[in-house]
Amino acid sequence: MADNVQKPANHGYELAKGLFEINGDDLVLGGLPVRTIVAEVGSPAYLYDGQLMRRAYRRLADALKGFASIYYSAKANPAEAVIRLFLEEGAGIEIASLGEYRAAIAAGAAPEHILFAGPGKRRAELEAVIEGGIGEIHIEGVDEIGRLRSIGKPVQASIRINPVPTVQAGAMRMGGKATAFGFDEEDLDAAIAAVASADNIELVGIHVYGGTQILDAEALLGQWRHAITLAARVARTTGKPLKTIDLGGGLGIPYYAGDKPLDLDAVAAAVPELAALLKSEPLIAGARAIVEPGRFLVGEAGLYVSEINTVKQSRGVRFLVMEGGMNHHLAASGNLGQVIKRNYPVVAPARMTAPSDAPATLVGPLCTPLDTLARDAGLPDLKAGDLVAVLQSGAYGLTASPINFLSHPHPAEALVENGRIEAIGR
Ligand SMILES: Cc1ncc(COP(=O)(O)O)c(C=O)c1O
Repeated sequence: MADNVQKPANHGYELAKGLFEINGDDLVLGGLPVRTIVAEVGSPAYLYDGQLMRRAYRRLADALKGFASIYYSAKANPAEAVIRLFLEEGAGIEIASLGEYRAAIAAGAAPEHILFAGPGKRRAELEAVIEGGIGEIHIEGVDEIGRLRSIGKPVQASIRINPVPTVQAGAMRMGGKATAFGFDEEDLDAAIAAVASADNIELVGIHVYGGTQILDAEALLGQWRHAITLAARVARTTGKPLKTIDLGGGLGIPYYAGDKPLDLDAVAAAVPELAALLKSEPLIAGARAIVEPGRFLVGEAGLYVSEINTVKQSRGVRFLVMEGGMNHHLAASGNLGQVIKRNYPVVAPARMTAPSDAPATLVGPLCTPLDTLARDAGLPDLKAGDLVAVLQSGAYGLTASPINFLSHPHPAEALVENGRIEAIGR
């Protein structure tokens, strides 16, 4: 493998203790030992703890109280049961395709609580969501204005703005550089004029999404302040009030050794100042701020668990070959945009008290060295048939993985809450 591979000790056990219950040797998820759940749903599997998702939602809702509504970004985990859980908590839904729209509607979302963003919306998708009902369409380019104009039906829309570079942050940036997402801030006046030229489009808001996996509260708040300033500029240009200001998602969770969680108290402490900034411009004073996280709401609640198929030694390295690998969990293999390959947190969920004295490299069954989920990870002396779990796997896990690569079986998925297992068929 490349030289850019780091080999940290395994930080999974500390992380697991902070998130889940541990009962003797067992990691407990949603009220049940992981091994019990796997005995029922099979291996490999993605398991999601419903209470942890609710906890993340409620912590964020508390921090943003009186300032912003939360829309769950379905791309992080589009399972209907997961979307339904956030609807129960009171969230709206942010979608990026007709497939996600259908999942949101099937989960019970009211069409007016759905936002549609994404850089390549096809005409058929736009027609279908307008026909079925949609809260807002977030326009990302001139062609999309033409498409909406030619569809001709009345629609509420926001302009997505790609902000100037100075306000950007996040492990993967979606703005502040040349991107396919939204209108460059420098071209904002032309974008406003183009939207205004379509009689059937009502401009109700703006949308700014800077980047994902932001752990620095100040960086996040800086983006939000800038978005509010942009909203004021748009409203002053049109002379009309805005209804919504979508501040984007991007709130991060700790994955790697040394990562510090996002400081939600710092976010909450800034809320009065942000609310005051909103009120200071009369044309946006009545607007509703929106935050649309995916990762933050579901990431920590999920784990990917697989049985070990084979244990082997090669030139001094101990390999644990699992039943699934990057085909199920591309992000953990470091091939989903990471520059430096670092280990996701891993644990042996049925051997939680055993000493982690048998460092191992975790690989999947694919015929490529890219299929490595952790290198030199501190784990107990595991054998074929034992379980390994990759933590922090609830977001961009299965949905972001090449599941048909090498034609292995797809993993099971289950949402577990209060001792009840809901198998999620997809
Ligand atoms: C427009 C938009 N909103 C929200 C999200 C969710 O981001 P995150 O999971 O980082 O919160 C994304 C992710 O790509 C996005 O593109």
